[in-house]
Amino acid sequence: MIKPHLFHYIMTIQFSTKLFAQADFTATKNLKSAFALLVKQESDCLVMAYSKADLANLQAKTAGQGGSKKARQTVNLGVAGPLAALDAYLGGAILRAANDGDLAAKEAAVTLLRSDPSWLAQGVKLKRVLLVGLGETQQKTGGDILAYAKLARAVIKTLSGGAIETALWLMAGFMEKPNPQRLGELARLTMQLAGDQVYRFGVRQPAMRFKVKDTPDPLKSLIFVSGGKEANVLKLAVTEGTALVEGMNLAKDLGNLPPNVCTPAYLAQTAQALAKKTTLKVEVLGPKQIEALGMGSFLAVTQGSELPPQFIIMRHSGGKATAAPTVLVGKGITFDTGGISLKPGDAMDEMKYDMCGAASVMGTIYAAALLKLKQNIIAVIPTCENMPSGKATRPGDIVKSMSGQTIEILNTDAEGRLILCDALTYVERFKPRAVIDVATLTGACIIALGSVHSGLFSDDENLAKELSESGKAALDTVWRLPLDAAYQEQLKSNFADVANIGGRPAGSVTAACFLKRFTEKYCWAHLDIAGTAWKSGAMKGSTGRPVPLLFNYLMTYGIR
Ligand code: BES
Ligand code: MN
Ligand code: ZN
Repeated sequence: MIKPHLFHYIMTIQFSTKLFAQADFTATKNLKSAFALLVKQESDCLVMAYSKADLANLQAKTAGQGGSKKARQTVNLGVAGPLAALDAYLGGAILRAANDGDLAAKEAAVTLLRSDPSWLAQGVKLKRVLLVGLGETQQKTGGDILAYAKLARAVIKTLSGGAIETALWLMAGFMEKPNPQRLGELARLTMQLAGDQVYRFGVRQPAMRFKVKDTPDPLKSLIFVSGGKEANVLKLAVTEGTALVEGMNLAKDLGNLPPNVCTPAYLAQTAQALAKKTTLKVEVLGPKQIEALGMGSFLAVTQGSELPPQFIIMRHSGGKATAAPTVLVGKGITFDTGGISLKPGDAMDEMKYDMCGAASVMGTIYAAALLKLKQNIIAVIPTCENMPSGKATRPGDIVKSMSGQTIEILNTDAEGRLILCDALTYVERFKPRAVIDVATLTGACIIALGSVHSGLFSDDENLAKELSESGKAALDTVWRLPLDAAYQEQLKSNFADVANIGGRPAGSVTAACFLKRFTEKYCWAHLDIAGTAWKSGAMKGSTGRPVPLLFNYLMTYGIR
């Protein structure tokens, strides 16, 4: 059996900062001396954003030598701007590109300039300069996150997959008046997007090399450049962004691993390996302990499998001993055949991703531990397989959950809620400030929301709002769906307290309503990530969602 090799994980891209204490890249004056230091850096590429105004200033400065009439009219006289400051070292390469029509300041259009002897003559050590057009973005107050992401994605796509190994990213050019907090957020987003772009499953650790020819992305290092003013913000952002990408990578790895490797025991061993590597405390309960706790619902799902179920508890204790923890619960079905209510064969392999809820809460608590977040967080993972066999649960079986409620299992393929309900009862003991469960729970959620938003369910207005906001800021969005009592009608059983399915209408809502019955003792939200946790088709693979959302939520709202 393959064991987790967490100590050999390869962080495919390194993030860092290069800070010039004396320089101010946001200034209108002395830009030339600021750039003097920057161009002497040895790097494969400098990334810089420019606006229409920057372009006009550059062309007007040299109006006599071919700058357009229009440029002369729009110029902000006396301010040459960053393009002109940089161009002074590049032998006029930027101006030539502009005059040839290669620079139009169109949103997210990238232009790559290559070093030539005139750069070298000026002592320029940059091999390339990549200019990205801001379009109208720079005008927007504080920088619009979606607009920024569009630029950053375009740039990262150009940087990756080719000859460029190191790149310098000049943050200051991307916003008109960078407020420090927003600057940090945007740097973090950049790392998230870069981490996404360069992630390659097959090269992450020796045990994942199932394809001989897999090679890592050549892009190895992204360095955020800034002057003295933003130095601390960027340093912090790099620490945070690195932790986030590590957490996302772990979630992706676990999701992508084949189901004969990523078993319940493998997930438990991964948690234990993380405990060795960080300050996380991990406890794993086996079948006997699960039975002793009275988790009859969880046990009903696992009984058709040859592999023992595991109940994993991971703790990050960064807050005061008395501070109530945030509890994350993740669905950990390492393979979902549907059980006796067997699924159709088409794309059944993708049911290896049915543990992505578990993977994302593990990735999130790992990131929190790396960052030493000053709060208490507990991740709880019920994990098993859902298999058909002579010992498997039959449709019609009635089981008793840990809460005491009896459940008529009308469809063995609605297994996620059966393992989660016992975990949701178990976590009452932590007297949590909030519980968020994450699950690839219903196909109906894909029909409702596609792969754009995860489904969000909560009766708590504050928690719902905080999760929505966190998702938006992390480019990992949710859409709220209802939970009203009216839907509980669909879960009525003639023979038990509740049925485990509510029919086809509003399938995601009735699944959430089932869970709600086990969460009355605390503030709770449920995320249905069936449509967002992985991609199908040619680009099949984990997305790492909703690690960015959860991470952002903890950072922004977790400390109370
Ligand atoms: N893991 C599935 C949900 C799922 C299906 C997620 C396809 C992503 C893609 C879950 O266990 C399941 O099978 N749900 C059933 C519930 C139904 C039987 C009420 C579903 O969605 O069909
Ligand atoms: Mn199922
Ligand atoms: Zn499932």
